[in-house]
Amino acid sequence: MRPESDHPRASPNRTVTVATRRAAPRRAPLALAAAVALAAALAGPGGAQIGRGAPATLAETGLYADAAAGTLAAGVLPFTPQYPLWTDGAAKRRWIRLPEGGEIDAADPDAWVFPVGTQLWKEFSFGGRRVETRYMALGPTGWTFATYAWSADESAAALVPERGARAAYELAPGVFHDLPGRWDCLSCHDGNRTPVLGFAALQLSPDRDPLAPHAEPPEPGAVDLARLVELGRIRNLQERWISSAPRIAAASPLERAALGYLHGNCSGCHNSRGPLASLGLSFEVRLTPAHGPTAETLATAYARSATYRPPGGVTLARIAPGDPDASLLVRRMASRQPLLQMPPLGTQRVDEQALALVTEWIRQAHEAPAEPPQPLRSTRLTATDTLDNRSSK
Ligand code: HEC
Ligand code: HEC
Repeated sequence: MRPESDHPRASPNRTVTVATRRAAPRRAPLALAAAVALAAALAGPGGAQIGRGAPATLAETGLYADAAAGTLAAGVLPFTPQYPLWTDGAAKRRWIRLPEGGEIDAADPDAWVFPVGTQLWKEFSFGGRRVETRYMALGPTGWTFATYAWSADESAAALVPERGARAAYELAPGVFHDLPGRWDCLSCHDGNRTPVLGFAALQLSPDRDPLAPHAEPPEPGAVDLARLVELGRIRNLQERWISSAPRIAAASPLERAALGYLHGNCSGCHNSRGPLASLGLSFEVRLTPAHGPTAETLATAYARSATYRPPGGVTLARIAPGDPDASLLVRRMASRQPLLQMPPLGTQRVDEQALALVTEWIRQAHEAPAEPPQPLRSTRLTATDTLDNRSSK
């Protein structure tokens, strides 16, 4: 819908400066390329490493005691986030290994700090066949991201080049699952307080949301927040999250699941801190008490007109309470046109279950939220704008 010329290709090493919404109210669409440019800026000298420094095979990352038999190595713990990312119906398994004696610092409940030596894996299967296993590891100089492609007979998985790989699995005739490359990992994982998205207090809460789309039951032996505390692998976790498990404070079960889905699938990019902060649209659900658990999504999306306007079309509300058809959010979730679809990458097929949930939530929503919209802070992004625990130097 938008002309191609609105989306100039980003130059890889450019510094991205984003103005505040207040200072420069914009009606023009923000180029998707901005996210890519940002990732590139963050990944400049001293930035996150993709593939670089990662072992050549999955077996060498230390996931398995016996790779052929699929037996996990000692200390590798499964986990299952309650609001999973939609990847065209892939079945997923995830594991973490903390270094011996290493503890997670949970002083900020929304951005855990992991000990150097932490490893995380996520396996993707389609139609019962393992296709890729993604890998993140925290070394002394920052996080490494890599993905490994499984051979057709699933006997081994080899490191995928930095640019990713196309057509790894045919989802439907002519529709393929691609293996993400350098910018793809960073676009989703490097735009918020922490690069670790699914191993977090809300995602690991024992109080799991029964309406979460594609909710996967935790695998046997999976660690959740309570188990991490028992194992003594987490420190500085506020007592309140031990005595009562984190849960999205929402007006209804439907709203809880909708906000959880948007948090799990969209807040890596849409939050008040990262490269897209100036868009003034946040789907992040934070536990930080002062913040108010659901304020951001409601204040930045509810009854607010969109920055994006289809050429020749009218500006829609991001969320028009009671009217899903007039809500840009619904249109973009329901699209797989490259310039319109949300999320913009990592999926080829509409998440029909989540679309139905979000549509119904908007249909039932009638009132504007109590919280007034908060101004978002201005962001100037350079290669040095990173947190200690992110893809730092
Ligand atoms: C479309 C956004 C997106 C892209 C692209 C993406 N990820 Fe993720 N990834 C997520 C989200 C969201 C989660 C947490 C939810 C889940 O696991 O379902 C996650 C989870 C993970 C995990 C488990 C640890 C964690 O953060 O929860 C690993 C490991 C991982 N991703 C690695 C990668 C690597 C490596 C790449 C690139 C090769 C990549 N991802 C590309 C969004 C993305
Ligand atoms: C990889 C980063 C990324 C992820 C993940 C992502 N988005 Fe976006 N989104 C963008 C960018 C960049 C823009 C601005 C450019 C554009 O409009 O295409 C945007 C724009 C939007 C807009 C238009 C805002 C406006 O005011 O015009 C909506 C609505 C939106 N996204 C919804 C979502 C939803 C819902 C999800 C999750 C299902 C999601 N996005 C996931 C990057 C992302």
